[in-house]
Amino acid sequence: MLHDEKLDRWFVTRHADVRACLRDRRLGRNFRHVGSDEEFHAEPLDPGWRAFWDMERRSLLWLEPPDHTRIRKLVAAAFTPRSVEAMREPAARLADELLAAFLESGRMDLLYDFAQPYSIALICQWLGVPIDRHRDLLGWSHATVKMYELDTTEEQAIAANTAAAEFQDYVGELIAERRRSPRGDLVSALVEARVDGGRLSEAEIVSTVIVLLNAGHEATVNTLGNGIRALMRNREQWQRLVDGTVPAAAAIEELIRYDPPLQLFERWVLEDGVEVAGVPIPRGEKIALLFGAANRDPRVFAEPDVFDIARANAAEHIGFGGGIHVCIGAPLARIELEESLRALVDRCPNLELAQEPKRNPAFVIWGLERVDVALG
Ligand code: HEM
Repeated sequence: MLHDEKLDRWFVTRHADVRACLRDRRLGRNFRHVGSDEEFHAEPLDPGWRAFWDMERRSLLWLEPPDHTRIRKLVAAAFTPRSVEAMREPAARLADELLAAFLESGRMDLLYDFAQPYSIALICQWLGVPIDRHRDLLGWSHATVKMYELDTTEEQAIAANTAAAEFQDYVGELIAERRRSPRGDLVSALVEARVDGGRLSEAEIVSTVIVLLNAGHEATVNTLGNGIRALMRNREQWQRLVDGTVPAAAAIEELIRYDPPLQLFERWVLEDGVEVAGVPIPRGEKIALLFGAANRDPRVFAEPDVFDIARANAAEHIGFGGGIHVCIGAPLARIELEESLRALVDRCPNLELAQEPKRNPAFVIWGLERVDVALG
């Protein structure tokens, strides 16, 4: 663990420490329910980015109990094993259809042409959001998540705020429509739901739908991009999938461990008495958890820099987080990743990188600019 003066954060790197922090209820994604900006030496939320903060401060990723518990309970009710498993068939079919369209030309950008339309269509189907605006949804999402980076520029903040305003308008209209004629989808369920005797507010429903839409594709798309790059660079591992000696379901865990799509999550220290890696960290401090480092911790993963899709304990990766904010969509993400990888292996066994993929400059949302592939 190290303290960075400039960023004024404690960076936690070991697997055991990251895990312990994720589960520690004295740490929170937010502090505003227990203290003031001054106490936590935090800048007040910039009113210039009001649309963004309006969206963010009611999101599951921002809230802490009891609001977090109230909304999470509702959303969790939708993720039953049966309802998630019901997405497998549509996922497999869609992966096949998307690939079929490129088999003739033999070339595609795996992210733009395959992973993005695939993932956004599935999360839209899951929620009951129409997909005719899917490029807008992707654009709004890409713009708003830039606010999670450690070095967001003014220009990116302006774009994020504009995107947040448009996104909220769009989802607001959708909610009004579902209110008029409910459809039995998740958006309608959120509109109609009663928890603890009350309904969710309009703004809470908007933020919940948006966090599900955004979280529902950003990480999945980048797992596929980062993962295919790793598989192409370690051809013998790809071959194990083609030969059928390692199932896609096992391989996806190593894809997430080896090059995780989300690198950093933060927590505020809400109470005194917290120690991380034996170091006391006072109330009001900020902790940054480095998932990529934890996933390469040699105390947990033997030869951590080796990419081995049959690694026995790959699923111990930190990729989906832990504690009360643990990824609610993990079962759906696993199905999506498994079915898309399977389709790629079955339909394109000779898949190759057409050129070396370039990293995009973001760090927290960790991915590639594009992944040009020849389908073989
Ligand atoms: C490979 C794909 C994915 C990865 C690696 C991933 C990772 C994560 C992580 C690490 C967190 C916890 C953040 C924290 O503790 O601060 C999280 C939260 C969340 N994820 Fe995922 N996720 C993925 C896919 C999905 C999908 C497909 C959905 C939607 C269906 C989704 C919805 C959410 C939501 C709503 C939260 C917030 C939960 C809360 O704060 O209570 N994620 N995800």
